[in-house]
Amino acid sequence: NTHIVIMAGGVGSRFWPYSRNTKPKQFIDVMGIGKSLLQLTYERFLSVSNKDNIIVVTNHDYAGLVKEQLPDLSDDQVLCEPSRRNTAPCIAYAAYKIHKKDPNAVMVVTPADHVVLQEEKFAGIAQTAIEGATGKDSIVTIGIKPTRPETGYGYIQYLEGSERVKKVKTFTEKPELELAKKFIDSGDFVWNAGIFVWSTSTIIKAFEMYLPEMAETFAEGSDKYFTDEEQTFIDKVYPACQNISIDYGILEKSQNVHVIEGDFDWSDLGSWDSLHELREKDEDQNVIDGDPIMFDCQNNIVRSESDRLVILDNLDGYLVGDFKDVLIVCKKDNESKFREYVAKVKEEG
Ligand code: GDD
Ligand code: MG
Repeated sequence: NTHIVIMAGGVGSRFWPYSRNTKPKQFIDVMGIGKSLLQLTYERFLSVSNKDNIIVVTNHDYAGLVKEQLPDLSDDQVLCEPSRRNTAPCIAYAAYKIHKKDPNAVMVVTPADHVVLQEEKFAGIAQTAIEGATGKDSIVTIGIKPTRPETGYGYIQYLEGSERVKKVKTFTEKPELELAKKFIDSGDFVWNAGIFVWSTSTIIKAFEMYLPEMAETFAEGSDKYFTDEEQTFIDKVYPACQNISIDYGILEKSQNVHVIEGDFDWSDLGSWDSLHELREKDEDQNVIDGDPIMFDCQNNIVRSESDRLVILDNLDGYLVGDFKDVLIVCKKDNESKFREYVAKVKEEG
């Protein structure tokens, strides 16, 4: 049985002010098609597994948003974390819980805030990855052909072979720029898409080996999952969990990592330019949400969401976001500036 675990508890600070602490990126309709990234992720997996086998793990703060956006999920399919501890505890909780119900389960873990085009291709790759993890002691990742020395990704080096699911030689999470450049130049590496496939018994073994305290914590809960005591137990033990991602905690260390190349269009929407690239544009290459009035504007991203009328003249390469409480007008390609904006806003309250 294949179980899908959608991780939807991150804060997505890179897309501020579209994305806020109160409503992070995964809950927003960034593609401008009337569906949030979480809803698109859920729909994408309906062709991979049965809808009763899809779980969303999120923070207590976002449980309401998840249930509102995915009304088909039962309460048992929304797992709530009391605090942010990154992806390792999130995955451990889901794995131990699923394993209790179905000891032979294969589990697919996916971020909730990515865009995948060519969904059929995606479903095919996911299916092959699932076969590669079924009845074997393998951790299967999906690799994406890299295009630039991005430092926010994991890099996977694999052993050449004719099989589609290949043995991984090294996994390096978020390398420094110099190292990332070397990886790209060598031509030997693919990016980690952040999608993982394994049997619950395989990942539980990995937790026992590499994150033993975490393994112990979630194993202790086994008699409480699917009972009235589950949430109380999680709320009690979760804050004490180590704050670490699955990539640093397990993927970098495990000896049985495998990779299948994903040749579908993939983006984690890490920058405004990547959003601009993916989205449909008007004839002047503008990405527009809402009804702004525009003269002589090219290559902009514009979202008009307040009651105000927005009028733009002679802008090139800008981000214009007009929300009820924030108006931002800035060059869209200056990524590091956004961290400054967010820091400043926090400072000022
Ligand atoms: N439930 C829950 N709880 N979800 C979380 C938490 C948490 O504490 N922290 C993060 N997530 C969710 C995010 O919402 C996102 O969907 C996913 O887990 C991945 O977390 P990110 O914080 O976005 O990770 P990353 O982008 O820095 O790195 C990962 O993804 C890259 C590809 O986009 C790594 O797996 C990299 O190796 C990979 O290349
Ligand atoms: Mg991410």
